[in-house]
Amino acid sequence: MHGEQIPLLSFLVPLNAIALAIFPIRWLSRGVFQSRLSGWGSATKVSISIWHRCGISVSPEHAVEMEEGFQMLKKERSSLTNASVLTQTQTKPIVIDVYWHIVAADIKQSKGWVPEGQLTLQMQELNRGYSQVGVSFRHIHTEYIINTVAFHKMWNDSDIEYNLKAWRRKGGPAALNVYTMLFESSKWLGFATFPQQYTKNPVLDGVILDFRTLPGGKLKRYNLGRTLTHEVGHWLGLFHTFQGGCSEPGDYVSDTPPQRSATYGCPVYSDTCDGGGPDMIHNFMDYSDDICLTMFTPGQGERMFQLMSLYRM
Ligand SMILES: *[C@@H]1O[C@H](CO)[C@@H](O)[C@H](O)[C@H]1NC(C)=O
Ligand SMILES: *[C@@H]1O[C@H](CO)[C@@H](O)[C@H](O)[C@H]1NC(C)=O
Repeated sequence: MHGEQIPLLSFLVPLNAIALAIFPIRWLSRGVFQSRLSGWGSATKVSISIWHRCGISVSPEHAVEMEEGFQMLKKERSSLTNASVLTQTQTKPIVIDVYWHIVAADIKQSKGWVPEGQLTLQMQELNRGYSQVGVSFRHIHTEYIINTVAFHKMWNDSDIEYNLKAWRRKGGPAALNVYTMLFESSKWLGFATFPQQYTKNPVLDGVILDFRTLPGGKLKRYNLGRTLTHEVGHWLGLFHTFQGGCSEPGDYVSDTPPQRSATYGCPVYSDTCDGGGPDMIHNFMDYSDDICLTMFTPGQGERMFQLMSLYRM
């Protein structure tokens, strides 16, 4: 595949008109790609036998590294102004522009095509979740990219991911770009990049998502649209509530109890660590079924605001 030109058909849908354009895309050689990717961090994919909401797994060392960068920037910024960084209560509500890139194999809903009405429901779901922390999202643009190879392979082929994003990503650090496709034979439903990664890898910034997780999608238990809410939590700087297991500093948020591992299904009660209280199985940053995910904590809201103001504003 490398060195060939693969045409991608892109459907741009302004108002009701569908304009069809053919764009060539030059696949970069793996060497070029890897050198651009150096410093991307050590997020790795882990495989388990049930649906695993999200493919992000951050090692404790990598979490420490990201946190140190964050704390250093926070200190620098506050010494410049002699004020602590913006906090939620000091700022007006934040509105984030969202660009949708629908990668599909065909114009059929079973082949990845996401109708505008479904995107509207997804935007409502996203806004409902983040209304708790004073963040809202505005749907700016949708584009449809018809390409069978990208539809099936982008989720785990980093060359395709890089090329498509380099070609299509819109806006600066504050713009949320969401790419939907099929996660084939996969245990994961989505991936996201962290704010601390933007400077080194602006092209890759964003969320990629299995299209079947959108509201009304085909993935039972994961089709209320909360995978996007979860991934956007990472995009705004949150770790999983079970980051670091039972040991401090965990997810670097003081009001989420320590948690040994991800929750699956929707248990009535779970407490996997001594002390700190029961697991917060309803937290959007856990893995419980969509119906079970309903909350962020004030501490998570504060962390998102700080990371956003330092890295994305
Ligand atoms: C910050 O505070 C220090 C010491 O109180 C002062 O010397 C400095 O001028 C202040 N800087 C700004 C930008 O206000
Ligand atoms: C991507 O996933 C497919 C299907 O599970 C697998 O056959 C392929 O080897 C994977 N490719 C990479 C680069 O991991």
